[in-house]
Amino acid sequence: MQGNGHSRSVLIFGGAGFIGSNWASRLLDQSETKVHIFDNLSREGSRHNLEWLEKKAKKSRRLEITIGDVRNAKLVERAVRSATEIYQLAAQVAVTTSVKDPRLDFEVNLLGTLNVLEAARMHGRRPFLLFTSTNKVYGACGESQEKLEKGTSEAQPLDFHSPYGCSKGAADQYVRDYSRIYGLPTIVLRMSCIAGPRQFGNEDQGWLAHFLYSALQEIPVTIYGDGLQVRDVLNVNDLLNAFEAVREKLPVTAGSVYNIGGGPANAESLLGVIERIKTLTGKRLEYTKAKGRPGDQQLYVTDFSKLHNDTGWTPAIDLTGTMESIYQWWRSNRDLLPSHAAKVPERTFGMLQPEPLRAA
Ligand SMILES: NC(=O)c1ccc[n+]([C@@H]2O[C@H](COP(=O)([O-])OP(=O)(O)OC[C@H]3O[C@@H](n4cnc5c(N)ncnc54)[C@H](O)[C@@H]3O)[C@@H](O)[C@H]2O)c1
Repeated sequence: MQGNGHSRSVLIFGGAGFIGSNWASRLLDQSETKVHIFDNLSREGSRHNLEWLEKKAKKSRRLEITIGDVRNAKLVERAVRSATEIYQLAAQVAVTTSVKDPRLDFEVNLLGTLNVLEAARMHGRRPFLLFTSTNKVYGACGESQEKLEKGTSEAQPLDFHSPYGCSKGAADQYVRDYSRIYGLPTIVLRMSCIAGPRQFGNEDQGWLAHFLYSALQEIPVTIYGDGLQVRDVLNVNDLLNAFEAVREKLPVTAGSVYNIGGGPANAESLLGVIERIKTLTGKRLEYTKAKGRPGDQQLYVTDFSKLHNDTGWTPAIDLTGTMESIYQWWRSNRDLLPSHAAKVPERTFGMLQPEPLRAA
Protein backbone atom coordinates (compact mmCIF):
# COMPACT_ATOMS: atom_id res chain seq x y z
CA MET A 1 0.00 0.00 0.00
CA GLN A 2 1.14 3.51 -0.79
CA GLY A 3 0.97 6.38 1.66
CA ASN A 4 -2.35 7.51 0.19
CA GLY A 5 -4.00 4.20 1.16
CA HIS A 6 -4.25 2.92 -2.42
CA SER A 7 -2.20 0.06 -3.75
CA ARG A 8 -1.82 1.69 -7.17
CA SER A 9 -1.49 5.39 -7.79
CA VAL A 10 -1.69 5.77 -11.55
CA LEU A 11 -0.84 8.97 -13.38
CA ILE A 12 -1.99 9.25 -17.00
CA PHE A 13 -0.61 12.07 -19.11
CA GLY A 14 -3.12 12.53 -21.92
CA GLY A 15 -5.69 10.75 -19.74
CA ALA A 16 -8.65 12.59 -21.27
CA GLY A 17 -7.82 11.37 -24.77
CA PHE A 18 -9.19 8.33 -26.53
CA ILE A 19 -6.80 5.72 -25.12
CA GLY A 20 -6.21 7.55 -21.84
CA SER A 21 -9.92 7.83 -20.96
CA ASN A 22 -10.51 4.15 -21.70
CA TRP A 23 -7.55 3.32 -19.47
CA ALA A 24 -8.72 5.62 -16.68
CA SER A 25 -12.19 4.10 -16.85
CA ARG A 26 -10.85 0.59 -16.49
CA LEU A 27 -8.66 1.60 -13.55
CA LEU A 28 -11.57 3.33 -11.80
CA ASP A 29 -13.35 -0.02 -11.83
CA GLN A 30 -10.59 -1.37 -9.58
CA SER A 31 -11.36 -0.32 -6.02
CA GLU A 32 -7.75 -0.09 -4.80
CA THR A 33 -6.55 2.16 -7.60
CA LYS A 34 -6.22 5.93 -7.53
CA VAL A 35 -6.22 7.65 -10.92
CA HIS A 36 -4.68 11.00 -11.76
CA ILE A 37 -5.38 12.48 -15.19
CA PHE A 38 -3.08 15.18 -16.54
CA ASP A 39 -4.28 16.69 -19.82
CA ASN A 40 -4.51 20.11 -21.45
CA LEU A 41 -7.75 19.17 -23.28
CA SER A 42 -6.30 20.36 -26.57
CA ARG A 43 -7.82 17.42 -28.46
CA GLU A 44 -11.37 17.92 -29.54
CA GLY A 45 -13.54 15.53 -27.57
CA SER A 46 -11.21 15.26 -24.57
CA ARG A 47 -13.48 17.48 -22.50
CA HIS A 48 -16.37 15.05 -23.10
CA ASN A 49 -14.21 12.13 -22.07
CA LEU A 50 -13.23 13.95 -18.90
CA GLU A 51 -16.82 14.79 -17.99
CA TRP A 52 -17.75 11.15 -18.51
CA LEU A 53 -14.93 10.03 -16.21
CA GLU A 54 -15.84 12.60 -13.57
CA LYS A 55 -19.40 11.29 -13.53
CA LYS A 56 -18.16 7.75 -13.24
CA ALA A 57 -15.79 8.58 -10.37
CA LYS A 58 -18.12 10.92 -8.53
CA LYS A 59 -18.47 9.05 -5.28
CA SER A 60 -15.19 7.22 -5.13
CA ARG A 61 -12.87 10.25 -4.67
CA ARG A 62 -10.24 8.23 -6.48
CA LEU A 63 -10.01 10.52 -9.50
CA GLU A 64 -7.70 13.50 -9.50
CA ILE A 65 -7.48 15.84 -12.46
CA THR A 66 -4.84 18.31 -13.51
CA ILE A 67 -5.57 20.49 -16.51
CA GLY A 68 -2.03 21.19 -17.57
CA ASP A 69 0.55 20.96 -20.30
CA VAL A 70 3.36 18.41 -20.43
CA ARG A 71 5.64 21.22 -21.60
CA ASN A 72 5.34 22.68 -18.11
CA ALA A 73 8.16 20.81 -16.30
CA LYS A 74 7.19 22.08 -12.84
CA LEU A 75 3.59 21.00 -13.13
CA VAL A 76 4.69 17.62 -14.51
CA GLU A 77 7.14 17.16 -11.63
CA ARG A 78 4.43 17.95 -9.09
CA ALA A 79 2.02 15.46 -10.64
CA VAL A 80 4.63 12.68 -10.71
CA ARG A 81 5.50 12.95 -6.99
CA SER A 82 2.91 10.50 -5.67
CA ALA A 83 2.62 8.18 -8.69
CA THR A 84 3.54 4.51 -8.58
CA GLU A 85 2.79 4.11 -12.29
CA ILE A 86 3.05 6.63 -15.10
CA TYR A 87 1.56 6.39 -18.60
CA GLN A 88 2.87 9.02 -21.00
CA LEU A 89 0.15 9.26 -23.65
CA ALA A 90 -0.04 13.06 -24.00
CA ALA A 91 1.00 14.02 -27.49
CA GLN A 92 0.52 16.06 -30.58
CA VAL A 93 -0.90 13.08 -32.45
CA ALA A 94 -1.31 14.12 -36.09
CA VAL A 95 1.38 13.76 -38.77
CA THR A 96 -0.36 16.55 -40.72
CA THR A 97 -0.11 19.02 -37.81
CA SER A 98 3.52 18.05 -37.27
CA VAL A 99 4.30 18.98 -40.88
CA LYS A 100 2.55 22.35 -40.46
CA ASP A 101 4.06 23.11 -37.05
CA PRO A 102 7.16 21.01 -36.33
CA ARG A 103 8.18 23.14 -33.36
CA LEU A 104 4.91 22.54 -31.52
CA ASP A 105 5.18 18.84 -32.34
CA PHE A 106 8.78 18.72 -31.08
CA GLU A 107 8.00 20.57 -27.88
CA VAL A 108 4.96 18.51 -26.92
CA ASN A 109 6.18 15.09 -27.99
CA LEU A 110 9.87 15.24 -27.21
CA LEU A 111 10.31 17.95 -24.59
CA GLY A 112 7.04 16.92 -22.93
CA THR A 113 8.23 13.31 -22.69
CA LEU A 114 11.63 14.41 -21.41
CA ASN A 115 9.82 16.38 -18.69
CA VAL A 116 7.97 13.21 -17.70
CA LEU A 117 11.17 11.14 -17.72
CA GLU A 118 13.09 13.68 -15.68
CA ALA A 119 10.30 13.94 -13.13
CA ALA A 120 10.24 10.12 -12.87
CA ARG A 121 14.04 10.01 -12.48
CA MET A 122 13.98 12.62 -9.70
CA HIS A 123 11.04 10.85 -8.05
CA GLY A 124 13.45 8.47 -6.26
CA ARG A 125 11.11 5.44 -6.07
CA ARG A 126 11.52 4.34 -9.69
CA PRO A 127 7.89 4.38 -10.85
CA PHE A 128 6.79 2.14 -13.68
CA LEU A 129 6.64 4.22 -16.87
CA LEU A 130 4.93 3.26 -20.14
CA PHE A 131 5.28 5.29 -23.32
CA THR A 132 2.94 5.02 -26.30
CA SER A 133 5.17 5.19 -29.37
CA THR A 134 4.15 4.56 -32.95
CA ASN A 135 4.83 2.37 -35.99
CA LYS A 136 5.76 5.62 -37.77
CA VAL A 137 9.27 5.21 -36.32
CA TYR A 138 9.84 2.60 -39.05
CA GLY A 139 9.19 4.99 -41.96
CA ALA A 140 7.95 3.45 -45.22
CA CYS A 141 9.40 0.08 -44.13
CA GLY A 142 8.80 -1.61 -47.48
CA GLU A 143 6.13 -3.78 -49.04
CA SER A 144 6.41 -7.52 -49.46
CA GLN A 145 4.27 -10.62 -49.13
CA GLU A 146 6.17 -11.43 -45.93
CA LYS A 147 5.41 -7.99 -44.47
CA LEU A 148 1.73 -8.58 -45.22
CA GLU A 149 1.55 -12.13 -43.89
CA LYS A 150 3.96 -11.97 -40.97
CA GLY A 151 4.16 -8.29 -40.20
CA THR A 152 6.90 -5.91 -39.09
CA SER A 153 8.92 -6.84 -36.03
CA GLU A 154 11.16 -4.76 -33.77
CA ALA A 155 14.13 -5.90 -35.91
CA GLN A 156 12.96 -3.44 -38.59
CA PRO A 157 15.52 -0.59 -38.78
CA LEU A 158 14.34 2.74 -37.42
CA ASP A 159 13.70 5.32 -40.13
CA PHE A 160 11.90 8.32 -38.66
CA HIS A 161 9.72 9.95 -41.29
CA SER A 162 7.78 13.20 -40.76
CA PRO A 163 8.26 15.54 -37.79
CA TYR A 164 5.77 13.38 -35.85
CA GLY A 165 7.84 10.27 -36.63
CA CYS A 166 10.97 12.13 -35.49
CA SER A 167 9.55 13.52 -32.25
CA LYS A 168 7.85 10.27 -31.22
CA GLY A 169 10.86 8.23 -32.37
CA ALA A 170 13.31 10.36 -30.40
CA ALA A 171 11.07 10.21 -27.33
CA ASP A 172 10.81 6.42 -27.78
CA GLN A 173 14.62 6.19 -27.69
CA TYR A 174 14.86 8.42 -24.61
CA VAL A 175 12.31 6.31 -22.75
CA ARG A 176 14.20 3.14 -23.62
CA ASP A 177 17.51 4.68 -22.61
CA TYR A 178 16.24 5.92 -19.24
CA SER A 179 15.85 2.26 -18.39
CA ARG A 180 19.46 1.48 -19.38
CA ILE A 181 21.09 4.58 -17.93
CA TYR A 182 18.98 5.30 -14.85
CA GLY A 183 17.39 1.91 -14.20
CA LEU A 184 13.82 3.18 -14.57
CA PRO A 185 11.38 0.34 -15.34
CA THR A 186 10.17 1.72 -18.66
CA ILE A 187 8.25 0.13 -21.52
CA VAL A 188 7.84 1.42 -25.06
CA LEU A 189 4.86 0.22 -27.12
CA ARG A 190 5.16 0.96 -30.85
CA MET A 191 1.52 1.02 -31.72
CA SER A 192 -0.20 0.54 -35.02
CA CYS A 193 -3.78 1.71 -35.58
CA ILE A 194 -5.75 1.64 -32.31
CA ALA A 195 -9.53 2.03 -32.50
CA GLY A 196 -12.61 1.80 -30.32
CA PRO A 197 -15.19 3.72 -28.32
CA ARG A 198 -14.52 7.30 -27.15
CA GLN A 199 -12.35 8.01 -30.19
CA PHE A 200 -13.02 11.40 -31.69
CA GLY A 201 -11.45 10.43 -35.00
CA ASN A 202 -10.97 13.05 -37.67
CA GLU A 203 -9.22 13.40 -41.00
CA ASP A 204 -5.86 13.91 -39.29
CA GLN A 205 -5.96 11.08 -36.79
CA GLY A 206 -8.22 8.15 -35.93
CA TRP A 207 -9.13 7.31 -39.53
CA LEU A 208 -11.29 4.23 -38.87
CA ALA A 209 -13.64 6.10 -36.52
CA HIS A 210 -13.56 9.08 -38.90
CA PHE A 211 -14.62 6.86 -41.84
CA LEU A 212 -17.39 5.25 -39.82
CA TYR A 213 -18.82 8.50 -38.42
CA SER A 214 -18.61 10.14 -41.86
CA ALA A 215 -20.51 7.26 -43.48
CA LEU A 216 -23.17 7.42 -40.77
CA GLN A 217 -23.50 11.18 -41.17
CA GLU A 218 -23.34 10.91 -44.96
CA ILE A 219 -20.34 13.21 -45.17
CA PRO A 220 -17.83 12.40 -47.95
CA VAL A 221 -14.17 11.93 -47.01
CA THR A 222 -10.89 12.34 -48.85
CA ILE A 223 -8.68 9.33 -49.30
CA TYR A 224 -5.04 10.33 -49.59
CA GLY A 225 -3.32 7.84 -51.90
CA ASP A 226 -4.86 4.94 -53.82
CA GLY A 227 -6.94 3.53 -50.95
CA LEU A 228 -5.04 0.27 -51.16
CA GLN A 229 -2.93 1.15 -48.12
CA VAL A 230 -3.08 -1.70 -45.63
CA ARG A 231 -3.37 -1.13 -41.88
CA ASP A 232 -3.82 -3.52 -39.01
CA VAL A 233 -6.31 -2.49 -36.37
CA LEU A 234 -6.23 -3.18 -32.65
CA ASN A 235 -9.15 -2.67 -30.30
CA VAL A 236 -8.37 -0.30 -27.45
CA ASN A 237 -9.43 -2.91 -24.90
CA ASP A 238 -6.79 -5.29 -26.20
CA LEU A 239 -4.24 -2.50 -25.92
CA LEU A 240 -5.23 -1.99 -22.27
CA ASN A 241 -4.79 -5.72 -21.67
CA ALA A 242 -1.26 -5.26 -22.96
CA PHE A 243 -0.70 -2.32 -20.53
CA GLU A 244 -1.56 -4.73 -17.70
CA ALA A 245 0.41 -7.63 -19.18
CA VAL A 246 3.72 -5.76 -19.53
CA ARG A 247 3.44 -4.42 -15.97
CA GLU A 248 2.63 -7.81 -14.51
CA LYS A 249 5.70 -9.31 -16.22
CA LEU A 250 8.02 -6.44 -15.36
CA PRO A 251 11.04 -8.61 -14.45
CA VAL A 252 10.98 -9.76 -18.10
CA THR A 253 9.63 -6.67 -19.85
CA ALA A 254 11.36 -3.72 -18.13
CA GLY A 255 13.43 -1.72 -20.58
CA SER A 256 11.82 -3.37 -23.61
CA VAL A 257 10.33 -2.04 -26.80
CA TYR A 258 7.36 -3.90 -28.28
CA ASN A 259 5.43 -3.62 -31.50
CA ILE A 260 1.71 -3.90 -30.90
CA GLY A 261 -1.25 -3.97 -33.25
CA GLY A 262 -4.01 -6.23 -34.52
CA GLY A 263 -1.57 -8.23 -36.64
CA PRO A 264 -2.16 -9.98 -40.00
CA ALA A 265 -5.56 -11.36 -38.92
CA ASN A 266 -6.88 -7.80 -38.46
CA ALA A 267 -5.29 -6.11 -41.47
CA GLU A 268 -7.37 -4.45 -44.14
CA SER A 269 -7.03 -1.88 -46.90
CA LEU A 270 -8.80 1.48 -46.65
CA LEU A 271 -11.12 0.50 -49.51
CA GLY A 272 -11.73 -2.83 -47.76
CA VAL A 273 -12.81 -0.96 -44.62
CA ILE A 274 -15.27 1.08 -46.70
CA GLU A 275 -16.84 -2.19 -47.88
CA ARG A 276 -17.02 -3.41 -44.28
CA ILE A 277 -18.71 -0.18 -43.22
CA LYS A 278 -21.35 -0.76 -45.88
CA THR A 279 -21.97 -4.28 -44.57
CA LEU A 280 -22.10 -3.10 -40.94
CA THR A 281 -24.23 0.04 -41.30
CA GLY A 282 -25.85 -0.18 -44.71
CA LYS A 283 -24.25 3.17 -45.57
CA ARG A 284 -21.80 3.65 -48.40
CA LEU A 285 -19.04 6.11 -47.61
CA GLU A 286 -18.55 8.56 -50.45
CA TYR A 287 -14.98 9.65 -51.08
CA THR A 288 -12.66 11.48 -53.41
CA LYS A 289 -9.00 10.68 -53.85
CA ALA A 290 -6.06 13.02 -53.39
CA LYS A 291 -2.27 12.71 -53.49
CA GLY A 292 -0.70 10.65 -50.69
CA ARG A 293 0.45 12.55 -47.60
CA PRO A 294 4.04 12.73 -46.31
CA GLY A 295 4.92 9.98 -43.88
CA ASP A 296 2.00 7.72 -44.93
CA GLN A 297 2.94 4.05 -44.98
CA GLN A 298 1.56 2.02 -47.88
CA LEU A 299 1.62 -1.20 -45.89
CA TYR A 300 1.95 -1.70 -42.19
CA VAL A 301 1.00 -4.85 -40.34
CA THR A 302 2.32 -5.63 -36.88
CA ASP A 303 4.33 -8.66 -35.90
CA PHE A 304 3.61 -8.78 -32.16
CA SER A 305 5.36 -12.11 -31.46
CA LYS A 306 7.91 -10.56 -29.10
CA LEU A 307 5.14 -9.20 -26.87
CA HIS A 308 3.28 -12.50 -27.10
CA ASN A 309 6.39 -14.50 -26.19
CA ASP A 310 7.22 -12.28 -23.19
CA THR A 311 3.72 -11.88 -21.75
CA GLY A 312 1.31 -14.30 -23.46
CA TRP A 313 -0.66 -11.30 -24.78
CA THR A 314 -2.70 -11.74 -27.91
CA PRO A 315 -5.59 -9.68 -29.37
CA ALA A 316 -9.06 -10.93 -28.44
CA ILE A 317 -11.29 -8.61 -30.50
CA ASP A 318 -11.22 -8.79 -34.28
CA LEU A 319 -11.66 -5.94 -36.77
CA THR A 320 -15.41 -6.56 -37.12
CA GLY A 321 -15.82 -6.49 -33.33
CA THR A 322 -13.88 -3.23 -33.15
CA MET A 323 -15.99 -1.60 -35.84
CA GLU A 324 -19.15 -2.76 -34.07
CA SER A 325 -17.93 -1.26 -30.79
CA ILE A 326 -17.33 2.14 -32.43
CA TYR A 327 -20.74 1.97 -34.13
CA GLN A 328 -22.35 1.15 -30.80
CA TRP A 329 -20.63 4.07 -29.10
CA TRP A 330 -21.66 6.42 -31.90
CA ARG A 331 -25.31 5.44 -31.51
CA SER A 332 -25.44 6.66 -27.91
CA ASN A 333 -23.07 9.63 -28.32
CA ARG A 334 -23.79 11.01 -31.77
CA ASP A 335 -24.69 14.43 -30.34
CA LEU A 336 -21.04 14.83 -29.31
CA LEU A 337 -19.86 14.60 -32.91
CA PRO A 338 -18.60 16.91 -34.23
CA SER A 339 -17.86 18.70 -30.98
CA HIS A 340 -16.07 21.93 -30.32
CA ALA A 341 -14.12 21.76 -27.08
CA ALA A 342 -13.41 25.27 -25.87
CA LYS A 343 -9.87 26.19 -24.94
CA VAL A 344 -9.47 26.26 -21.17
CA PRO A 345 -6.82 28.04 -19.14
CA GLU A 346 -4.22 25.88 -17.44
CA ARG A 347 -5.66 25.06 -14.05
CA THR A 348 -5.97 22.22 -11.63
CA PHE A 349 -9.02 20.86 -9.91
CA GLY A 350 -10.09 17.66 -8.26
CA MET A 351 -7.94 16.58 -5.33
CA LEU A 352 -4.65 18.16 -6.38
CA GLN A 353 -4.17 21.68 -5.16
CA PRO A 354 -1.08 23.15 -6.85
CA GLU A 355 1.30 25.61 -5.30
CA PRO A 356 1.48 28.79 -7.40
CA LEU A 357 3.98 28.46 -10.24
CA ARG A 358 6.79 30.93 -10.49
CA ALA A 359 7.21 32.48 -13.91
CA ALA A 360 10.10 30.91 -15.83
N1 LIG B 1 -4.68 6.08 -31.58
C1 LIG B 1 -3.73 5.52 -32.30
O1 LIG B 1 -4.01 4.83 -33.29
C2 LIG B 1 -2.27 5.66 -31.92
C3 LIG B 1 -1.30 4.97 -32.67
C4 LIG B 1 0.04 5.10 -32.32
C5 LIG B 1 0.41 5.88 -31.25
N2 LIG B 1 -0.55 6.56 -30.54
C6 LIG B 1 -0.12 7.37 -29.39
O2 LIG B 1 -0.97 7.08 -28.29
C7 LIG B 1 -1.14 8.24 -27.47
C8 LIG B 1 -2.62 8.50 -27.22
O3 LIG B 1 -3.28 8.63 -28.47
P1 LIG B 1 -4.84 8.85 -28.60
O4 LIG B 1 -5.27 8.17 -29.83
O5 LIG B 1 -5.50 8.54 -27.31
O6 LIG B 1 -4.87 10.41 -28.90
P2 LIG B 1 -5.77 11.58 -28.26
O7 LIG B 1 -5.49 12.79 -29.06
O8 LIG B 1 -7.18 11.14 -28.14
O9 LIG B 1 -5.13 11.73 -26.80
C9 LIG B 1 -4.01 12.54 -26.52
C10 LIG B 1 -4.36 13.41 -25.33
O10 LIG B 1 -3.21 14.22 -25.03
C11 LIG B 1 -3.68 15.52 -24.72
N3 LIG B 1 -2.59 16.46 -25.00
C12 LIG B 1 -2.14 16.90 -26.20
N4 LIG B 1 -1.15 17.78 -26.05
C13 LIG B 1 -0.95 17.89 -24.71
C14 LIG B 1 -0.07 18.67 -23.92
N5 LIG B 1 0.81 19.50 -24.48
N6 LIG B 1 -0.13 18.54 -22.58
C15 LIG B 1 -1.04 17.72 -21.99
N7 LIG B 1 -1.91 16.99 -22.69
C16 LIG B 1 -1.87 17.06 -24.03
C17 LIG B 1 -4.89 15.75 -25.61
O11 LIG B 1 -5.76 16.75 -25.11
C18 LIG B 1 -5.53 14.37 -25.60
O12 LIG B 1 -6.50 14.26 -24.57
C19 LIG B 1 -0.41 9.36 -28.20
O13 LIG B 1 0.86 9.48 -27.60
C20 LIG B 1 -0.26 8.86 -29.62
O14 LIG B 1 0.89 9.39 -30.25
C21 LIG B 1 -1.89 6.46 -30.85
